[in-house]
Amino acid sequence: MSDTHSDALVFFGATGDLAHKKVFPALQAMVKRGTLNVPVIGVAKAGWGIEQLRARARDSLEKHGGGVDEAAFAKLTTLLSYVDGDYSAPSTFSALRKLLGEAHRPAHYLAIPPSLFGKVVEQLAHAGCTEVGSRVVVEKPFGRDLQSARDLNAILLESFDEEHIFRIDHYLGKRPVHNMVFFRFTNALLEAFWNRDYIKSVQITMAENFGIQGRGAFYDPVGAVRDVVQNHLFQVLANLAMEPPARTDSESIRDEKVKVLKAIPELTTSGLVRGQFRGYLNEPGVAAGSKTETFAALRLAVDNWRWQGVPFYIRAGKSLPVTCTEVVAHLRRPPAVYPGCTPQHDYFRFRISPQTEMAIGLNVMDEAELGVGQTNELLASRHEGANEMDAYERVLTDAMAGDRTLFAREDYVEEAWRIVDPVLKADTPVYPYEPGTWGPSEADRVAPPEGWYDPDPSA
Ligand code: BG6
Repeated sequence: MSDTHSDALVFFGATGDLAHKKVFPALQAMVKRGTLNVPVIGVAKAGWGIEQLRARARDSLEKHGGGVDEAAFAKLTTLLSYVDGDYSAPSTFSALRKLLGEAHRPAHYLAIPPSLFGKVVEQLAHAGCTEVGSRVVVEKPFGRDLQSARDLNAILLESFDEEHIFRIDHYLGKRPVHNMVFFRFTNALLEAFWNRDYIKSVQITMAENFGIQGRGAFYDPVGAVRDVVQNHLFQVLANLAMEPPARTDSESIRDEKVKVLKAIPELTTSGLVRGQFRGYLNEPGVAAGSKTETFAALRLAVDNWRWQGVPFYIRAGKSLPVTCTEVVAHLRRPPAVYPGCTPQHDYFRFRISPQTEMAIGLNVMDEAELGVGQTNELLASRHEGANEMDAYERVLTDAMAGDRTLFAREDYVEEAWRIVDPVLKADTPVYPYEPGTWGPSEADRVAPPEGWYDPDPSA
């Protein structure tokens, strides 16, 4: 193990939902791949012992981890220990320090609500768990607006340097999101057209055909803009719009992403339409009369040399007709040559889920030779994703190894909040929509002139 590798993983919130859905499956996968070989200490306040945590881990793997791999699970069991205690009690943290033993460069993963970060970080520092080389790993949403993000950063920076803070956005751990940058910068064909001279507009759609799945208490104070737009979809946008990095180290790449956000003017209320699916108000944990959006459609500008004048559209919603995240960049139309034939816009298409696809749409002569043309696609890649590394496995592996590339830097997070802050504070209307539809019709107010592109994962 190199001396930049964390020598223990501590995860707070070990009995919680995130641990159950994502963390245990990632840990088993890491053991299988041979990337996890250090003590793993779960911390929570549940009145549990290690046997209950092991049973919970097994249940998690059965439900969310593709099944229990007995050999990997046995190994994980030998690495796993547990501290049960209150996050305000010094005894919890002295027990933790004792369990850490020889480990002095732990990664502390805070899979807990941000309101608890301050308390936990302070106690970690008092107990001597934040020595040089220790890391802290935190989850999105990182704050709920610009000011609270700054406050949270200040809390973390009291005990950790920025280079030891890892802000997870699991979208960055998704291969197709990462691959978007690779694809752009390794193909002359794409890059030659990837600018305001050729691209007419870019649409990013994150559609989910389910509601909030019992997560009302989490979701209601958050809403679609904070839950997925300010983080996941802005990361996608940054990967699409960034300039080639001068080098491929984490900071050179993150510098380019921040530059994209700096070029985006603050969103105005005329550039956003919010919606709420009918039935949301009956969900457990949702406040009576809540005006939280479960759908958002927005239009952004990237005001720089490459993109000035090219609108970027984002749509995200729950209870839409399909589950699919996809990007489509339409090219400008060529001049018309054939009478009666208005060629369709050529396009580049990147599907992030449920399958990953990269395709280019082009006009060819229609089969009936009516002279009207038809669009065909050249498919550059298609993956079902069965053997893909899960996003959580990737980001936890990288955090333990100290590679910051796939994590959001402080300046990036603050720029992202700057863009949405004014509309979060403005009390814009929230329009109802029927579950299973593409959101409220009012979304057309911010639609591209060529209309919304609705992804179809069955196609
Ligand atoms: C999470 C959001 O960050 O991302 C959820 O809180 C959303 O609301 C989820 O459903 C989508 O991620 P994935 O990887 O399941 O597409």
